[in-house]
Amino acid sequence: MSQQKILCIGGAGFIGSHLSHKLENSEQFAVAQADIWSAKLKIRFENAPFEFHNVDISSDVEMLDELVSKHDVIFNLASKASPRLYVQDPVSVAKLNLFDGYKVIDACVKHRKKLVHFSTSEVYGKALGSADPFREDDTNCVTGPIKNHRWIYSTTKQLLDRLIYAHGRNDGLNFTIVRPFNVVGPLIDHVMMDEDDGAPRVFSYFMSALMNGEPLRLVDGGKALRTFIHVDDLVNALIAILDNPDKSNGQIYNIGNPQNEIMIADLAIMMREIFSSRFKACNGVSDIVTVNGQEFYGEGFEDTERRMPDIGKISQIGWAPKIGLRELLEDTMHYTWSNRHRLTQSAMDAIN
Ligand code: UGA
Repeated sequence: MSQQKILCIGGAGFIGSHLSHKLENSEQFAVAQADIWSAKLKIRFENAPFEFHNVDISSDVEMLDELVSKHDVIFNLASKASPRLYVQDPVSVAKLNLFDGYKVIDACVKHRKKLVHFSTSEVYGKALGSADPFREDDTNCVTGPIKNHRWIYSTTKQLLDRLIYAHGRNDGLNFTIVRPFNVVGPLIDHVMMDEDDGAPRVFSYFMSALMNGEPLRLVDGGKALRTFIHVDDLVNALIAILDNPDKSNGQIYNIGNPQNEIMIADLAIMMREIFSSRFKACNGVSDIVTVNGQEFYGEGFEDTERRMPDIGKISQIGWAPKIGLRELLEDTMHYTWSNRHRLTQSAMDAIN
């Protein structure tokens, strides 16, 4: 059987490096990465070789077009996904996600390639007090006023989903859209020691605070609810999509773990408890404090209070998440603690 040729655009980040590694180790697939840096791939692949193309999709359109033409399935993971960036640099978030993201869609339409596009749970926006899980084909996408820049990411990603869907109807684009819900695992973006560059997610802020003996900061009291999924479970969902090309064509799938819901204030307590029981050689026990959301993220921040995925649809292609919250945290905290020096170096390489 001939191998399927997979191209991962933005494949060198946290999720892409795990996906690429899993694909590379399967005889079914041959995988290539197109990205502007490769530090995490180097860590994930250890000393094994990988195919890497240094491509900036904002400027190297010809190279992008050529690479798409040579592969069977295109994953687009290129994105700026960090709430602090949404409020501090909304224009660059929109430019990369929307305008550069559209170039990938365009190339897939032109060359008639299958697109697996990374959307986001953020597309659903606010739960508005509803306890209903978000459903791909039923739930309304509800965001806030324009002055709250936080929603620029959600709305640009929503427009991409709509464009992909429209190309599916009008031009026969073969696509699957995935919406990850708060993925955590080894190689998740790392907070620099002594430097708050604002890129990562709550896990990384809390872990960094614990390692430095600093306070864990709860935004607006940490009342928001999130479900967390291990990156290995997410990658298995992506493999299930590749294994079910007919069923997954034209579908949008939530990828999350509804069993792993926790309030952020409780996440802080749980991570602190795991940290002090497992890594005693640290700088003392961190406090847990409350900070104002607008002050922490910047003007234009508004939170989404609950994000619960319905995963009934993706379960129809035989996938279910397996890793519980405690195991997910212990695994990721252990990895981050054990590899803290090289993760810091890799984060510095990405900036320089
Ligand atoms: C972010 C992205 O904006 C989404 O697009 C993406 O889909 C999502 O992560 C994801 O990982 O799937 P968010 O859920 O707000 O969305 O991610 P975090 O930055 O990890 O924040 C989670 C919650 O923790 C929020 O309520 C935030 O205010 C809070 N938080 C964050 C703290 O209380 N303290 C911190 O130090 C950081």
